[in-house]
Amino acid sequence: PLSALPHPPGRLPVLGDVRSVDRRRPTQHETELTRELGPIFQRELLGNRLVVVGGADLARQTLDEESWGRVLVGPLAQLRAVAGAGLFTARTRDPLWGQARRILTPGFAQAAMRVYHDAMASVADDLTQKWTESPVIDVHRDMTAATLEVIGRAGFSRRMGLLGSDDGAADGTGEFLDALGRILLWAGESTNDVPMLGPIREVLGSRRRNADIATGRRFVSSIIETRVREGARGRNDLLGLMLETADPETGERLPLRNVTDQVLTFLAAGHETTAALMEVALYYLAAEPEVADRIATTELDGTALTYENVVRLRQIRAYLNECLRLWPPAPGFFRLARTDQVLDGYHVPAGRAVFVLALAAQRDPAVWGPDADLFRADRFLGERLTASSRKFFAPWGTGPRSCIGRQFAIHESSLLLASVLSRFDLRLEKPTDLVMRERATLRPEPFTLVASPRTTVP
Ligand code: HEM
Repeated sequence: PLSALPHPPGRLPVLGDVRSVDRRRPTQHETELTRELGPIFQRELLGNRLVVVGGADLARQTLDEESWGRVLVGPLAQLRAVAGAGLFTARTRDPLWGQARRILTPGFAQAAMRVYHDAMASVADDLTQKWTESPVIDVHRDMTAATLEVIGRAGFSRRMGLLGSDDGAADGTGEFLDALGRILLWAGESTNDVPMLGPIREVLGSRRRNADIATGRRFVSSIIETRVREGARGRNDLLGLMLETADPETGERLPLRNVTDQVLTFLAAGHETTAALMEVALYYLAAEPEVADRIATTELDGTALTYENVVRLRQIRAYLNECLRLWPPAPGFFRLARTDQVLDGYHVPAGRAVFVLALAAQRDPAVWGPDADLFRADRFLGERLTASSRKFFAPWGTGPRSCIGRQFAIHESSLLLASVLSRFDLRLEKPTDLVMRERATLRPEPFTLVASPRTTVP
């Protein structure tokens, strides 16, 4: 039975494994526990048992859609209060989920990236212009700005005013961002709460949070209202798709309330994760200048960053994959046993959820080799990972509920990274380790880079 699973040392009566709770870096702590306790273990708090799967082979077992499915617990469940029946937080059985997924899928297909390319490139231009003018870079701030601009410009044809020649943040954007930041913090923290503390914090924070949610929805409603007023014609973006397209299966359009849920979802899900990926990528470029030089000289040398060329940046893609392997912005996801299952000899009854810790499984030395903890982008150059590979790699989740924004995020980050890399040498302002913080996503602690014009000439 699951009660026989290994657990952290120092278990207390009633309270359970409270001593092993790390509220600030929960999944990084669980990754350490995987090394100590093995590929599957439990943590029990006041009688609530969390089953953590951190070994690659076991994690792969839970990807089988016939035996396992997605379940809405953890930060996702918290975010339901905010993004309602948006794609991320909708229940799979809610008809709105299927409807929205069918309507939006063409908007996220590879072919659609051609349409967004110019909007993404305009952000890359603004970013590199900014770094040319002020070369000491607050990476966290600039990646938040760049990724929000991309989703704003490409998704909703709306400049957010966070980068470039705009005169500061557009109306309400600053307030919206502050509210969104607090909401993500809350969702992340409340997931890691010791039971009992959670409800207390809930009550204490509820007024502020309701105000933040209202701010978020107001901001998004104004984007939608402006579009409806101006008419969507000719606007080839996600918002146009959601307002104009009927579901091919039911013939129905998305209700306006659901469009609000979706826009909020894309603003949140689309920026925090991609910013985390970009920050990790920039950190390693600065920390390992030889790698940056190699990519710049062999792959980017004089290459115009057109849509076609960006799609062909193999080394950049491999580099981004290695960032996603070592530091997946979504460090894990929950899977629910559809029928009775066995993991490593332990019986998992139907209806039981387990936490699949991608962060640990993607570094499992049993499949990734003894250098699994090292950054080595060429792992992804030689072979293509296929479904049958033992090498667990699931930064985009799995199955029908996996990330719809995957191509969007890859095109965006390839383009941004290539633009930066072809123009600048980057270095850390002072030697710093990469320290990851957790608030619903795994994202680097803020650090500063210095950009100088690229000098390595091939
Ligand atoms: C779902 C990761 C970028 C929109 C997911 C899931 C993961 C993920 C792991 C599945 C979560 C689960 O099963 O519980 C990432 C990463 C990104 C990224 C690592 C960037 C590096 C984006 C972007 C967008 C987006 C740019 C939108 C513009 C979504 C949506 C879902 C989702 C809507 C829910 C899909 C559904 O349930 O139908 N993402 N994501 N993501 N992502 Fe992303």
